Amino acid sequence: MSEPVEPAKRYLIRTFGCQMNEHDSERIAGLFEADGMTAATDVDDADVVVLNTCCIRENADNKLYGTLGHLKSVKDRRPGMEIVVSGCLAQKDQEGIRERAPYVDLVFGTHNVHQATELLHRSRAEGPLTEILAETVADDHELFPSAMPAHREHGHTAWVTIQIGCDNSCAFCIVPAVRGGEISRPFDRLVHEVADLAAAGVTEVTLLGQNVNSYGRDLTLAARQAGDDVRVRPLFADLLRAVGAVEGIRRVRYTSPHPKDLRPETIAAMAETAAVCEHLHLPVQSGSDRVLAAMHRGYTAERYLEKLAAARAEIVDLAVTTDIIVGFPGETDHDFEQTLALAAAAEYDSAYSFIYSPRAGTEAAELVDRYVPADVIAARFDRLKVVLERSALAKHRDRIGRVEEVVVEGPSRKDPSVLTGRTRQNKLVHFASAEPLRVGTFAEVEVTDAAPHFLRGRLLEVTASARHRTRIPVAAG
Ligand code: SAH
Ligand code: SF4
Ligand code: F3S
Repeated sequence: MSEPVEPAKRYLIRTFGCQMNEHDSERIAGLFEADGMTAATDVDDADVVVLNTCCIRENADNKLYGTLGHLKSVKDRRPGMEIVVSGCLAQKDQEGIRERAPYVDLVFGTHNVHQATELLHRSRAEGPLTEILAETVADDHELFPSAMPAHREHGHTAWVTIQIGCDNSCAFCIVPAVRGGEISRPFDRLVHEVADLAAAGVTEVTLLGQNVNSYGRDLTLAARQAGDDVRVRPLFADLLRAVGAVEGIRRVRYTSPHPKDLRPETIAAMAETAAVCEHLHLPVQSGSDRVLAAMHRGYTAERYLEKLAAARAEIVDLAVTTDIIVGFPGETDHDFEQTLALAAAAEYDSAYSFIYSPRAGTEAAELVDRYVPADVIAARFDRLKVVLERSALAKHRDRIGRVEEVVVEGPSRKDPSVLTGRTRQNKLVHFASAEPLRVGTFAEVEVTDAAPHFLRGRLLEVTASARHRTRIPVAAG
């Protein structure tokens, strides 16, 4: 008599944080599926729940421990469920996670992703396990020869990770400590990947990395060390042109470029490649030269504004967005006034502002005697918000009367009778349509009204229907 066949285990991965974790989650899913597991739709029908965590700011940590608390109650009801914690917070807190949440079965770090299945089997056989490698042991493409590291948010758009890790050392930032140095994915492979996505009906790709402007420096350095006669240089501008030339790709976006490494070649590639969208997310962090120097950002406010002006001069109708940190240790009222002045001068289309969050292990976290009191930070944060919203509203009002190309993203979240689309400048537009339009449809919309965070419009005509299949299968490359 044959053994009864056990049903396949079902897994659920919840991803926090940025594209690097998304990238890893796809790889973990690929490894689990290769091991015979199938995807669950919900915690309640999952046998294995992976929380792929972020630790960029303190609220990211809090979110994880909140979610773990909830999972514990599920596990109390179903003791066979396995809880796995991976990602940046695992890399940072290591054994601390199981100390705070002893019911977690497996903790593994950002450099152990390729061992996900093996570690799960070990924890099943031997009991709870924490495994954290200090650095990547081999080449990304050796460890994952057949991974497909593109994330498909909607069928018509895809994220393509071009680089992992970061070689910078911004004083506030935990990323280099938990992710290691920059590794660029090979150029030809990325272009092929985008061509495969386009063949499956994807019309928009977003290239992702922590410092995309240095993309390829490590590849050219390695080629040179191997004896090739090449100049060590970033290849990002070339990549933008190559991806923009892929048949069927109508929109190319990217994030994030570091202002110190934003080069004229990149601006020229943006201006000259029709598919590259007129949107630049250029994180400034502060408008004070003193604070920028303490952060080790590598530019001054003046230099930043010069780069912005150069980009605006070359790229017609460029939208600009940014990230700003309020309350970096030692930030004075005067420093903050300079941030307000820069924010006003830069005339951002929109901005993310963050309250400084000390991250143990970073240089700035050591500056305890210079921490800015919470009430001072809160008041600054509110003042900055006023300046940022004023400039966003002015930018959006300028667009009233224009005809914009939008791509439909689906029904509006607040009012399902209205559709939401995204313009090339990355702005949301809400508009009515007599007929339902499929996600991914291209249409022309006249802007009729503006708010700080969105536009309203009137549908003029549909210009191209969506081409993607409803669900794009995860392909092996
Ligand atoms: N690599 C990107 C930033 C990635 S992190 C870049 O350099 O542009 C995204 C944003 O989080 C940063 O731009 C910064 O504004 C914010 N951030 C990072 N660490 C932070 C911290 N310790 N406290 C508050 N905000 C932080
Ligand atoms: Fe962090 Fe700076 Fe690297 Fe961005 S560039 S990930 S802020 S260290
Ligand atoms: Fe968070 Fe790690 Fe990304 S800390 S922002 S998930 S690199």
